[in-house]
Amino acid sequence: MNSIARLAAAISVASLFPLSAFAADAKGTVEVVHWWTSGGEKAAVDVLKAQVEKDGFTWKDGAVAGGGGATAMTVLKSRAVAGNPPGVAQIKGPDIQEWASIGLLDSNLLKGVAKDEKWDSLLVRKVSDTVKYEGDYVAVPVNIHRVNWLWINPEVFKKAGIDKAPTTLDEFYAAGDKLKAAGFIALAHGGQPWQDSTVFEDVVLSVMGAEGYKKALVDLDQNTLSGPQMVKSFTELKKLTGYMDPNRAGRDWNIAAADVINGKAGMQMMGDWAKSEWTAAHKVAGKDYQCVPFPGTEKAFTYNIDSLAVFKVKDAGTQAAQQDLAKVALGKDFQKVFSINKGSIPVRTDMLDDMSALGFDACAQASAKDFLADDKTGGLQPSMAHNMATSLAVQGAIFDVVTNFMNDKDADPAKTAKQLASAVKAAQ
Ligand code: BGC
Repeated sequence: MNSIARLAAAISVASLFPLSAFAADAKGTVEVVHWWTSGGEKAAVDVLKAQVEKDGFTWKDGAVAGGGGATAMTVLKSRAVAGNPPGVAQIKGPDIQEWASIGLLDSNLLKGVAKDEKWDSLLVRKVSDTVKYEGDYVAVPVNIHRVNWLWINPEVFKKAGIDKAPTTLDEFYAAGDKLKAAGFIALAHGGQPWQDSTVFEDVVLSVMGAEGYKKALVDLDQNTLSGPQMVKSFTELKKLTGYMDPNRAGRDWNIAAADVINGKAGMQMMGDWAKSEWTAAHKVAGKDYQCVPFPGTEKAFTYNIDSLAVFKVKDAGTQAAQQDLAKVALGKDFQKVFSINKGSIPVRTDMLDDMSALGFDACAQASAKDFLADDKTGGLQPSMAHNMATSLAVQGAIFDVVTNFMNDKDADPAKTAKQLASAVKAAQ
């Protein structure tokens, strides 16, 4: 039984409604559980909070620190078991279906907003399917992040004698060698399972291409998981780990980003929420920093869509606040300002053709262009590390294998590929 099913068993119907739901509330309060707590992320979520408050509702902040959201998801589950879920929570990918299937999400609440605002015509099918349960919206998507980016400090590259961004794994290692020789951390990284797997999926994408990535990490094909291409992926991952700083255990992603921003490190492999830290530090894309697809992944786009799911509540004021928040979140103004702060691109297709006119920087313009192009070629793939491709149980099994591998210098790539295949099978 997966964790959401176990959760369902623990919740009685009577406990589905938040304790606060019965309190009288003038225009309504909405509590929002999310994990946007770094400087750049906070600047982005504050845009939503300000708009909801401007509309007269009360925003109760349910921020739970911890990149990638694993801690926030644990908190959310225990609150649901205790009969005290928030009105809104950041939930992504297939997990949305699991929460909806146990009856905790409200599939009626957003019907009117979605119709009035024409959500179906604004979103690509892959996106709307993710946030609908049995045909009805249970969450509002807020943005699109691209995961397979490499962030570069060009000043550090120059000091190390590197004249261009790497486009192949060999060029990447050559740059890493020069950075190390010049006394820099070559690849800034935080040793947390979700960050390890963010790097792993980039390497799989580089080695296997989008088709192989899909077979391995989306379709979970046993032969691909244990096959020669996966052995090669682990071999490359081992080499790449050698360019990371040995004191990385437990380091948060934004601290690793700061190492690149402050000129201590040359590169970071991270989704474009890393750009929020550069923006918060008043750095300009294309001038103070470079964003390039991770070497060998130029024709692919691993997507990660943040969405806010609505929980069933009884209080009419809270329901009105949930609806207001959902309407704001897909509105054009919010989509622009939020993504500029967050490092992402809008999820509304009517904005993606127009990125330069809307004031988005070079990284966001490239991201939008590639998103539209890769949607047509099969290069657009859901990120495993960011909850878009598998259940959380399967993702957890992959995280364990990958993190153990990266922390054991004697680990064998061939054995690890076999372990990966059996761990995935056991978790399915
Ligand atoms: C989320 C981003 C967030 C990042 C770091 C990702 O999984 O989608 O919104 O900025 O984790 O916490």
